[in-house]
Amino acid sequence: MTAQIIDGKAIAQKVREEVAAAVAQRIAAGKQPPGLATVLVGDRVDSATYVASKQKACQELGMISFHHHLPANVSQEELEALVRDLNADRRVHGILVQLPLPAHLNEERVLSLINIEKDVDGFSPLNIGRLAQKGREPLFVPCTPYGCVYLLEQAGVPIEGAHAVVLGRSNIVGMPAALLLIGKNATVTICHSHTRNLPEIVRQADILIAAIGKAEFVRGDWIKPGAAVIDVGINSKPDPTKKIGYRLVGDVNFEEAKEVAGFITPVPGGVGPMTIAMLMKNTLRAAEIQDV
Ligand code: GUN
Repeated sequence: MTAQIIDGKAIAQKVREEVAAAVAQRIAAGKQPPGLATVLVGDRVDSATYVASKQKACQELGMISFHHHLPANVSQEELEALVRDLNADRRVHGILVQLPLPAHLNEERVLSLINIEKDVDGFSPLNIGRLAQKGREPLFVPCTPYGCVYLLEQAGVPIEGAHAVVLGRSNIVGMPAALLLIGKNATVTICHSHTRNLPEIVRQADILIAAIGKAEFVRGDWIKPGAAVIDVGINSKPDPTKKIGYRLVGDVNFEEAKEVAGFITPVPGGVGPMTIAMLMKNTLRAAEIQDV
């Protein structure tokens, strides 16, 4: 059996086109373009690259981006003052503080300060709390988990009643992905670095979300035949045949897994493009919420 490849690039492009059309309609109706403020602290190259991609997506979709780059040694008070200013700025509908922050900063306090209506990353305690509670709806769902579930839905993978195994319990991906899947009536097992008999548990998964950041960690013989495999990992692997000396691989051994799975996302071109597409969708929603 060869898995159906879930084309995240194409699905993300369609989301972006829908968002761009809605933005154009807003502007034609005399409303403000959605505005996204990005806050980057320090000089991590990966974070700078992600934030640049988010700014570029805003421009491409007719939104406005406001970028703030603070030095790595910025104080908690200065960062909090910026968030308060952005909360008060009516041109800014969404606020994204790129994570991780330098170790001296209190991430929880910063995220708690973001006005819930502008929390397009869905990381504020109020949004996450609502995601975790039955019968409550968060205003925004964190972008990468939202993208994972959107891919499953677009591929026609049934979630209700399925056994979903989530590898990783990070605040950004694993934990919110598990909460989102529970909310959609999956039975969810969360695995992490202390989990025993990992391959055995993964073999029970109708849906596998791999978000542990270990190159090609999940082997083909861990996959239940016909399962849907969503690979969130983006790892570089040395590859002397490439000019740059490496290539990107996921947390799943793609070549092995695609022979067993029913559906699988590639790396690159799977979950990656979805994170930004869902951020754009959330930012549009933030502008719509703040219209009234
Ligand atoms: N760092 C890695 N992924 C993300 C994300 O989706 N949002 C933010 N704010 N930081 C991140």
